[in-house]
Formats: sequence, structure tokens, C-alpha cells
Amino acid sequence: KHILLLGPPGAGKGTQSKRLAAEFGIEHVTTGDALRANKGMDIGDMDTEYDSPGEYMDAGELVPDKVVNAIVEEALSTADGYVLDGYPRNLDQAEFLSEITDLDAVVYLAVDEEVLVSRLTGRRVCENCGENFHVEFEPPEEPGVCDECGGDLVQRDDDTEETARERLRVYEENTAPVVEHYREAGALTEVDGEAPPDEVFDAVVDAVES
Ligand code: AP5
Ligand code: ZN
Repeated sequence: KHILLLGPPGAGKGTQSKRLAAEFGIEHVTTGDALRANKGMDIGDMDTEYDSPGEYMDAGELVPDKVVNAIVEEALSTADGYVLDGYPRNLDQAEFLSEITDLDAVVYLAVDEEVLVSRLTGRRVCENCGENFHVEFEPPEEPGVCDECGGDLVQRDDDTEETARERLRVYEENTAPVVEHYREAGALTEVDGEAPPDEVFDAVVDAVES
């Protein structure tokens, strides 16, 4: 299966994508994680404004298309089935994606802006295994410690309130039109992303299987 999961920052794309990948035995392709693992990558020779992905990310801005498109093209070339998370984030990326693959399902997680801000600022991520927690909505058994592996839980550099709000602004400007593009094509299923994670998961699986 080729699944595209859309939604604003903090909508639960990462949380649901991991579960979908396990459920369907497909790959989780995420530009956010790929870029976080390469924050210091030297892109100075690509004629970009900043010299590394991390500088864009910490400002809440989009990393240039040529960097991100190359990551996605490479990842999809080796994936049989996939759930794509964090891409496309503007209409040019959506155009590029349509040239390199086809999609079986497009699901949009709808969540209200103030809920998004509290999810982002309260998120904690395991430094060791990448598992997501939330100080209020999904607290670990022991504060600051990962339930899965015992690793330290840290806050992402771009999850401060100021950067979170900038990411939401960038989303409205660049990515909301992508959602409308798929909606107008009749390809999109909207799911209530404010429901508890298990309910969201069931709704997404229904959308993928219908
Ligand atoms: P990226 O890593 O993609 O971040 P994002 O889109 O901002 O999404 P998040 O990871 O913040 O949220 P999510 O929807 O995955 O939510 P999660 O499941 O974690 O991108 C980061 C940066 O990289 C960008 O700003 C940009 O610079 C760059 N970048 C990435 N892709 C790019 C691209 N294509 N082009 C250009 N630049 C790109 O959940 C959030 C929190 O809520 C967690 O704490 C979780 O526990 C909690 N939660 C989840 N679901 C629920 C629920 N149902 N109820 C209650 N709490 C929940
Ligand atoms: Zn862990």
C-alpha cells in the first residue's frame, strides 16, 4: 500500500504513521526524521539560503525542495509499500511526488490550532528510540524516562511555543493548499485527529481499507 498522511504540525502524523507501518508491514517514510538525523548536513553547495537543514528547522521554516525531494525519491525507490509523513508540504513537492509514485490513500488528520500548540509544547521524545510522549496526554510512567527503553526524554528544538506557532503559520501558507489540492481531486479522507490515539488509528485504517 501507498499511504499519504497529511496534517498540521502536532496532528499526530508520526504517532499514527508508526502504527500504520506496523499494521500493514510497510515502511514509514518521514522527511522530518530524515532531516533531524541530518541536521548538520552541508548543503552549502546547493545554492540555498542557509548551509544546513537544521538552521531551517530550528526557525520553523521549510527546508528547500531540492534537499527534501531527493530524500523522498531515494526512500521511495527502495520501499515496496509506505506511509509517507511530513511530505509534500507545498504544491511543488506535491507535483514532484505525483511524478515519482502513485497513491492508494490520502488521509488528513484535522486538529484545532490551540490543541496543536499544547501538543507540540508538551511533546517529549526518547533520545534513544524515538518514541513520542506527552507530559499531559501520554505521560511516561516515570517522568523524563522512556517506557520502551529507559532512554532520556527530551524536547525537540522546534517545540518551543514561538517556533511551534511559526510552524503553524508556515503550514497555513504552504501546506494547507496541498490538503485542498487532494480534497478537490476527490482523493482525500478527513479524520478527526482530536480523538484519542486508538480511535484515530481505527478511523485511519478504515479510510485506508475503504
Ligand atoms: P516534521 O518532523 O515533519 O514535523 P511536523 O510536521 O511539524 O510534525 P510533528 O512531528 O511536529 O507532529 P506530528 O503530526 O508527527 O505529531 P506527533 O505524532 O508527534 O518537520 C519538522 C521540520 O522539518 C519542519 O518544520 C521543516 O523545517 C522540516 N521539514 C520536514 N519535512 C519537510 C518537507 N517536506 N519540506 C520542507 N521541510 C520539511 O504528535 C504530537 C504530540 O501529540 C505528541 O506528544 C503525541 O504524544 C501527542 N498526540 C498524538 N496524537 C494524539 C492524540 N490523538 N491525542 C492526544 N495527544 C496526541
Ligand atoms: Zn526509548
